Amino acid sequence: MKFLKQKDIAVISYSPLGRGKALSDPILKKIANRNKMSTAQVCLTWLMSKGAIPIPKATSLEHLKDNFAASEFNLSPEDVQQIDKISIKQRYVNPPFISPKEWSK
Ligand SMILES: NC(=O)c1ccc[n+]([C@@H]2O[C@H](COP(=O)([O-])OP(=O)(O)OC[C@H]3O[C@@H](n4cnc5c(N)ncnc54)[C@H](OP(=O)(O)O)[C@@H]3O)[C@@H](O)[C@H]2O)c1
Repeated sequence: MKFLKQKDIAVISYSPLGRGKALSDPILKKIANRNKMSTAQVCLTWLMSKGAIPIPKATSLEHLKDNFAASEFNLSPEDVQQIDKISIKQRYVNPPFISPKEWSK
C-alpha cells in the first residue's frame, strides 16, 4: 500500500466482505454493534480507512443501500487497530494464476 500510494496507484478491494464469510467474525460484529453499523459497513469502512476502494457484490436493495451508506461512517483509530490485529488469515479468493503456491497451503 505504501509503494502504491507513492506511485499514485489506487487499490481495488475485490471480495471486500470475504464473499460474505467475514460477516460472521466476532470482533467485526462487536465493533458493528458498538458503532450502530452493520458488519458489512465495518468491513468496507476499514478498507476505505486504508485508502482502498471496495467493490462489494450485493443482490438486494437492502444490501446495496447498506453498502453505499458505509461511506458516511468513520471508525475510531482504536477500532481500526483492533481489526488490524485479527489474526485469522484466510484467502477466500485464490486464483492459481495470481497467487504463489505457498498461499494455497
Ligand atoms: N473486476 C473483476 O474482474 C471482477 C470479476 C468478477 C467479479 N467481480 C465483482 O467483484 C465483486 C466481489 O464479489 P464477491 O461475491 O466475490 O464478494 P463480496 O463482495 O466480498 O461478498 C458478497 C457477499 O456478501 C453479501 N453481502 C453484500 N452486502 C451485504 C450487506 N450489506 N450485508 C450482508 N451481506 C452482504 C452478498 O449477499 P447478497 O448477494 O445476498 O447481497 C454476497 O453473499 C462483485 O461485485 C463481482 O461482480 C469483479
